Order: sequence, then C-alpha cells, then structure tokens
Amino acid sequence: MELYIDTANLDEIKQAHDLGVLDGVTTNPSLIAKEGIDYGKRLAEICQVVDGPVSAEVIALDTAGMLAEGRERAKIAENIVIKLPSTVDGLRACKALADEGIRTNMTLCFQPLQALMVAKAGAFLVSPFIGRIDDIGLDGMDLIAQIRQIYDNYGLPTKVLAASIRHPKHMLDCAMVGADVATVPFNVIQQFMNHPLTDIGIDKFLADYKKAFG
Ligand code: G3P
Repeated sequence: MELYIDTANLDEIKQAHDLGVLDGVTTNPSLIAKEGIDYGKRLAEICQVVDGPVSAEVIALDTAGMLAEGRERAKIAENIVIKLPSTVDGLRACKALADEGIRTNMTLCFQPLQALMVAKAGAFLVSPFIGRIDDIGLDGMDLIAQIRQIYDNYGLPTKVLAASIRHPKHMLDCAMVGADVATVPFNVIQQFMNHPLTDIGIDKFLADYKKAFG
C-alpha cells in the first residue's frame, strides 16, 4: 500500500519524507491557501523533495481551462500529476490529458460510477473522500470497497487513492479493503507507530536492565 501526505506544507513533507516510507504528495486549493504561497512555486519546491507523484489541482471548472492549467502545471516536473474534479468537464480533460501522456488524479469522488467513468477515461488515480462521506452520516469505507470491486471486476488499472482520511482507523480500514494508496495529513501519519503498550514495554525493559546491571 502506498502512502501519500495530504498537505502543501513543506516542513511536514520533509519530515514525512525523512521517515523513508513516503510515496507521494497531494495538494488542493484549500491546502495551498493555508500556506499563503504561490501554488506553482510550492509545487516546484515539493518536487525537489519527493520523487513520487505530486498532485496539483486545477482551479478552472471548464474543460478548456483545466487543460490549459494542467498542461502548464505538468511542465513543473515529471512527477506532477494533474488533479481534476470528478465532473463531466473533468472527465473530458482527464481523457485528453491521458491521451497526451499526462497523469491525472480525479478528485472529489463521492459515488462509484464517477470512479468507473474516470477509469475508462484513463485516470491514473481516483480520490474518494472518506471523511466527508462519514460527515453526512454515511460510511465512506463502503465507497472504497465498491470502487475496489468494480476495478477488480474489469481489471481497470486506475489506483484507488483514499482521501479525506481523518484518523488511524480510516487508514486501517483502507488497508483491509484494498485501497492502493491513502493520502493522509501529517498529524495522522504521526500516530501510525503509536501504542501505549509499546511505551510501557520499553520502560519496563529498561527498568529491568538498569536494575540488573546499573
Ligand atoms: O485531499 C483532499 C482531502 O484529503 C480533504 O480532506 O479532511 O478536508 O475532507 P478533508
């Protein structure tokens, strides 16, 4: 299973990269707005740290605008992936960019037929938003399972990238259901190696050792 970090914060990206298990980065307009920095400049900085896919989201809502933005962003580095909304215009842009050899990440996916359509259009990644589905009283994990099943039924190579992950249980469930990738905020990644019994065990081993040998 691949792990991406969901942030535009360079310090968090560097810290996650230093763990040695980071496969890519996703950004979006809200995340870049939080940083208050030029989007293109930040993408270039991220691509100097991370070799894996780095998603750059378009702002345009129409196919022509998405294509213009996507082609421009794709020039920043070879590992840039163009993030497009899962709309009809996004679908058209996805197909056109895929035909040009530019990888896409189809975002804001909330139902399985969006995932089927973007896979048919040649998407590299599809991003179902688990947390936002949970927010409205449904179960985001059902969507991951449905997309997994559809892609497996037809051998569709688009990778399922679970997004809007809010806590470690989301990550565990995604791993059990077979999401190819999860994109995770840094504060959640930091919890993946935690268990109180690990800490208690270390303390006890050290106390026993000190008691015996000083
Ligand atoms: O990459 C976008 C996605 O991860 C957003 O997450 O927590 O704002 O729903 P959230």
